[in-house]
Amino acid sequence: MRRRTSTRSFGTGKREGHDASGFYGRKLCAGFTRDATDDGVNPIPPHLLDRVYQRSSEHMKELPDNSVALMVTSPPYNVGKDYDLDLSLDEYLEFIRRVLGETRRVLVPGGRIAFNVANLGRKPYIPLNGHVASLATDLGLLMRGEIIWIKAKSAGGSCAWGSWMSACNPTLRDLHEYVLVFSKESFNRPGGGRSTIGRDDFMAATTSVWEIPPESARRVGHPAPFPVALVERLIHLYTFDGDTVLDPFMGSGTTAVAAVRTGRRFVGYEINSEYVSLCRRRISNLETTSLSA
Ligand SMILES: C[S@@+](CC[C@H](N)C(=O)[O-])C[C@H]1O[C@@H](n2cnc3c(N)ncnc32)[C@H](O)[C@@H]1O
Repeated sequence: MRRRTSTRSFGTGKREGHDASGFYGRKLCAGFTRDATDDGVNPIPPHLLDRVYQRSSEHMKELPDNSVALMVTSPPYNVGKDYDLDLSLDEYLEFIRRVLGETRRVLVPGGRIAFNVANLGRKPYIPLNGHVASLATDLGLLMRGEIIWIKAKSAGGSCAWGSWMSACNPTLRDLHEYVLVFSKESFNRPGGGRSTIGRDDFMAATTSVWEIPPESARRVGHPAPFPVALVERLIHLYTFDGDTVLDPFMGSGTTAVAAVRTGRRFVGYEINSEYVSLCRRRISNLETTSLSA
């Protein structure tokens, strides 16, 4: 039998079978988890599933409490895209807090959030990842981890380096965004289900750095789509077959496409009617393609 390792005063040995009870017994970790049950889970009525609602996700009245397995989203960043308002940082964070609060309500116990976010600006650098992590944990959500999503191998054509070859004011060019991952009430999904992730994909998905190329805005017809591959990987890692996936900022419908392709149900919100139509077109193209395949 393989011996379990434990954390030592000077570094650690091999990590397989690691006994972390000493770490989780410390005051640092007190009070964070409790075991969830699937009592009180409310299925979404079938006629409300696989739909995108054209309204603000600040109130998701179609969705019962404790009904969604995973929320995956990329929110508006309030940076001047055609769908952005011009909000102060406090107003913006309050808006995100309302959506996260509604999400917490509709997640099943043990349900997950995968929140894609980029940090903004340089003067100053606005660490939205830190702000969102604080908002979510203040709402009682449990943080599971932070994925560094590398979108590009090098800075390519970007010349936003500040002062050229001078220590006067050089600035960093981000090649990455984040996916912040949280759970409601418990890290485990009580009740279980059938997982759909294979060995190699599991090994890759459980590292904290993911390299996935960005999606082309022009190809999709939306200013800021995320790639289907990113969402599919999150769905396979964090949900069971047949689970329901929510995107409160559905945009062009990438989350819906990924949900259909992975055998999950979806539900979403989007305020812009053109994007709602785009989303419906992408889904029906998918259905047509799979019927004719
Ligand atoms: C970053 S985009 C999402 C893109 C999406 N992940 C995709 O792949 O196409 C954010 C979207 O949120 C929508 N939006 C902005 N405020 C909203 C609100 N209060 N409720 C629902 N959707 C909203 C915008 O119209 C925009 O399409």
